[in-house]
Amino acid sequence: MAISHKEKILIEILNLFKTSPDKCISGTELSNRFGVSRTVISRYIKSLEELGYKFEKRTAVGYRLIYIPDTLHPVEILSMLETRYMGRNYFYCEELESTNDKAISLALQGAPEGSCVVANAQTQGRGRLNRSWLSIPGKGLYISILLRPSIEPKKAPQLTIISAFALIDTLKQLYNMEAKLKWPNDVVVKGKKLAGILSESHVEPQKTRFVVIGTGINVFHRKEDFTGHFRYSPTSVAIELSFSRPIKRQDILCEFLLTFENHYEDYIRNGWSNWVDRMHRDSVLSGKKVDVDTGSGKISGRAIGFSEEGGLIVETPEGKKHTILIGDVLRVTPEG
Ligand code: BTN
Repeated sequence: MAISHKEKILIEILNLFKTSPDKCISGTELSNRFGVSRTVISRYIKSLEELGYKFEKRTAVGYRLIYIPDTLHPVEILSMLETRYMGRNYFYCEELESTNDKAISLALQGAPEGSCVVANAQTQGRGRLNRSWLSIPGKGLYISILLRPSIEPKKAPQLTIISAFALIDTLKQLYNMEAKLKWPNDVVVKGKKLAGILSESHVEPQKTRFVVIGTGINVFHRKEDFTGHFRYSPTSVAIELSFSRPIKRQDILCEFLLTFENHYEDYIRNGWSNWVDRMHRDSVLSGKKVDVDTGSGKISGRAIGFSEEGGLIVETPEGKKHTILIGDVLRVTPEG
């Protein structure tokens, strides 16, 4: 989704205001810099106001940016994104059925690696195992990233884990929040689910054509927003911060894309082994008693670690070790 000429200028105008936050910039300075009349500049400022930005306007002095809204509009995201390619091809919609579906259709049309689809709401947000994902307008982040890694198809689930670690590091960086990985695809805070990841791959026998990593993050949700049945107790960034700090979804999105790009590059360059070590350290399951639904039966025992491929290793009371590559953890009990 190529952005329009006008959006490019809006991004440049925003960058100018953001790099000198307290500065009042005159209409003349803006019109000289962008080579358009002051009337056109005032129209651009109006367009930004329509997106929720607020300016202080001082007659004969100029404009000062005084408020940046919570918005995922490309003008805001592309004015703050620091990545090289992750999210640079940015597709945003107020409402989509599912960002994963949109990302898959863009992938089939040849969209480049790092393309990112974001929606303010989803009408058919999907979770793993045919579950739905609560996608209330404006409350959460619904993100799908397209990757085209040269890896064997069986390794694609490793990218889910990398994405979970990118989110865990984002939450630490922005809010000093201690989030953990709950194998295979959840990010939890104090035992409650804050985010889930649904990766979907298109593969040929020995080759991965592309992988779409869909991440759903509960951001502004209050307890009463979580209506319906949840397998795991849900939480949100705002709940975990006790609604005590300003939160902007664009901060989470841009930090997540930057961290994900770094982690993904490291994975492509140096391989998976460092990430297995991290799984041992940062997983809520390590050492716990678990019941895991493998799709072809239930395995109960103690989670003793992770395999080289990223599978969960469970030791049954009889001492038999099972490596589970795909599964759903039904129950976790603290002591073993
Ligand atoms: C799960 O916990 O089961 C995974 C949930 C994944 C939800 C995200 S929201 C963005 C992307 N689009 C979807 O339809 N699903 C994923």
